Amino acid sequence: MTDRSARPQRLLILGGTGFVGSHLVPRLAADGHALTLLSRNRERHRELAVLPQVRIRNADPHDRAALIAHLRDADAVINLVGILNETGGARFRRAHVELTATLVAACREAGVGRLHQMSSLRAGEGRSQYLTTRGEAEAVVRASGLAWTIYRPSVIFGPGDGLVSRFAALLRLAPVLPLARPQARLAPVAVQDVVAAIVRGVGDPATAGRSFELYGPETLTLIAIVRAIRDAMGLHRLILPLPDTLGRVQARLGEFIPGKPISRDNFLSLLLDSVGREDGLAALGIRAHPFRPALPALLHDRGRQARYDAARAGAGR
Ligand SMILES: NC(=O)c1ccc[n+]([C@@H]2O[C@H](COP(=O)([O-])OP(=O)(O)OC[C@H]3O[C@@H](n4cnc5c(N)ncnc54)[C@H](OP(=O)(O)O)[C@@H]3O)[C@@H](O)[C@H]2O)c1
Repeated sequence: MTDRSARPQRLLILGGTGFVGSHLVPRLAADGHALTLLSRNRERHRELAVLPQVRIRNADPHDRAALIAHLRDADAVINLVGILNETGGARFRRAHVELTATLVAACREAGVGRLHQMSSLRAGEGRSQYLTTRGEAEAVVRASGLAWTIYRPSVIFGPGDGLVSRFAALLRLAPVLPLARPQARLAPVAVQDVVAAIVRGVGDPATAGRSFELYGPETLTLIAIVRAIRDAMGLHRLILPLPDTLGRVQARLGEFIPGKPISRDNFLSLLLDSVGREDGLAALGIRAHPFRPALPALLHDRGRQARYDAARAGAGR
């Protein structure tokens, strides 16, 4: 596919202040695009606004009038909003389906015809509310009449991710880590490859009307992933595979732990392997980075960042 990312566009990004956004936004800005990020709390994400061509605006992404107002200045919109758990007031259906429907309606009204929608591998399959509502949001996008592109990643790794950092923190905590769904298979995809896919999508109108499954070259069981993280950390920890009866109990109890390290809905998602069938990265001309060779640098950076944060806290900054 041709990469026409050189043509600068005015892009509105929803959910651009999170993990993927923190990698995507600098890349799109470096390509010369003018970016407006909508956030529910821009003060928390001021670091992104220091980039040239990036501005962050406070807005509720469910507010149709606010969306229309911001879309009037945009050529295309990228929707990265998504939740892995229902925490606080956040609900799967509202964050995935209702928000997407509001966005589609706002695009029509503002005359914006191009939509990039982040979804997930296996969206619309299985029994988890996460995957079910992702599938429903995809259906809304497909029926929108807009020129849409859907990105369907497996679990994403990279600096600031929720995969390596979550398990690294759990492994540091205890000598034994009981693990639900140990044999679930995943194909972790590098955040820079996900970013590259979206950059291609933005630059190439021929990606309209297409979905891209984004997965890495290594398919690993969950327990192999956690063991690889443990080994890269140089820790001696026992990882205890749980049968599903105990895994379900762990998932239920996990909902009462701050940050919900696991929930019943996560457990239901893990009943499906997060592996793809059509290599979207290859279709986009992107060579996928493998997971395990990335771990030492990822964990080293994290250690350095943690030491830096501790030093800053100690210095009262
Ligand atoms: N990370 C992965 O491994 C992975 C894998 C597959 C798919 N995905 C999908 O990729 C997208 C980006 O992932 P990510 O890891 O970057 O997400 P993230 O960091 O958890 O969140 C992205 C942003 O979404 C906004 N947001 C969160 N909850 C919201 C809510 N209830 N209503 C409205 N806005 C909300 C937040 O922005 P503000 O607080 O600034 O408003 C947040 O910074 C998501 O759709 C995610 O589901 C991620």
